[in-house]
Amino acid sequence: MTEKDFLPGAYQKMPKHGKVTWKAPSNIALVKYWGKKPVQIPANPSISFTLDSCATTTSVSFEKKADSELFSFDLLFEGKPKDDFKPKILTFLERIEKYVPFLKAYHFTIETSNSFPHSSGIASSASGMAALSLCLMDIESQLNPSLDNGLFNAKASFLARLGSGSACRSIKGNLVQWGMHKNIPNSSDLYGIEYPFEVDSVFMSYCDTILLVHKGQKQVSSTVGHQLMHGHPYAENRFRQAFSNLDTLKAILASGNLEEFIKLVESEALTLHAMMMTSMPYFILMKPATLEIINKIWQYREETKTPVCFTLDAGANVHLLYPASVKEEVMEFIQNELVEHCENGQYIHDRVGMGATKIKG
Ligand code: DP6
Repeated sequence: MTEKDFLPGAYQKMPKHGKVTWKAPSNIALVKYWGKKPVQIPANPSISFTLDSCATTTSVSFEKKADSELFSFDLLFEGKPKDDFKPKILTFLERIEKYVPFLKAYHFTIETSNSFPHSSGIASSASGMAALSLCLMDIESQLNPSLDNGLFNAKASFLARLGSGSACRSIKGNLVQWGMHKNIPNSSDLYGIEYPFEVDSVFMSYCDTILLVHKGQKQVSSTVGHQLMHGHPYAENRFRQAFSNLDTLKAILASGNLEEFIKLVESEALTLHAMMMTSMPYFILMKPATLEIINKIWQYREETKTPVCFTLDAGANVHLLYPASVKEEVMEFIQNELVEHCENGQYIHDRVGMGATKIKG
């Protein structure tokens, strides 16, 4: 599909009012997106596990208004007005208006809440932008009832990408790939696709325990971090490496070779942070506890041969990845060795999930 496919024809209906609700999960990248071109085009392809319980639920109520000159919306976060989120939403609406031209015809009330504790340091932009995009697509499908399911999902992912790149990987499950890659059929820079190759069943129930190391605001946002890949001395090699890691991952995912999976995933996480440390200006998002946890994981793996590994996103929290079959011993390891490094002892259990769902209202 090309950008043109996302421009709608004339709408068949214009309902006066209504309300839609969608729940969209977060995701955790195995091969990371870091570096982009305008507008929200990734410098390299990425792939992620869709999560299950870390999710955002968003309702959008819409009411036809008399004029259609300006955007008009109210925003509620966990039941309370949240004016500081409004500029980000406004920028998003301006960016996507061309593709969903009904936006100025309605006043919207957007109500959103997260399943994970707010200020947990878990980025909610992926699940949040995905949930909002699905609500807008649901409204579009009421205006254009002949919209088919494939286009609905691809366009929801396309819109979400324009809000936050990684959000385009939060529409479907279980593994989603985003970014054009010559060896991945139907891959696109414009939206995420369900991973089209064979995947061993071990990955279908993979667990992700998120160890909350630092819950405060990050010193450097992802948006700034992406920009710092322009003119970065190692950028070209890094982008090439991500393309090649996606090739390598194909055989790993098909065979369920956890030793190779662990090597690739941990290397990706550390490379992401190496890019941050070698940007100009340089920065470090890991905290001492992040390194303590990584060292303990390595030691535990060496001693017990349990196939547990870590990945990181653009922050200090550690995602502990492991197959469901070793859950019991990993729980014990977390309790005995890792909880002490978490802020207020907090962590969140999650697992690979099936993608976003519509909530009947
Ligand atoms: C490190 O999707 O948050 O989590 O497109 O600027 O909103 P924007 O960036 P964002 O970047 C995510 C970066 C990452 C890696 C990944 O999820 O692939």
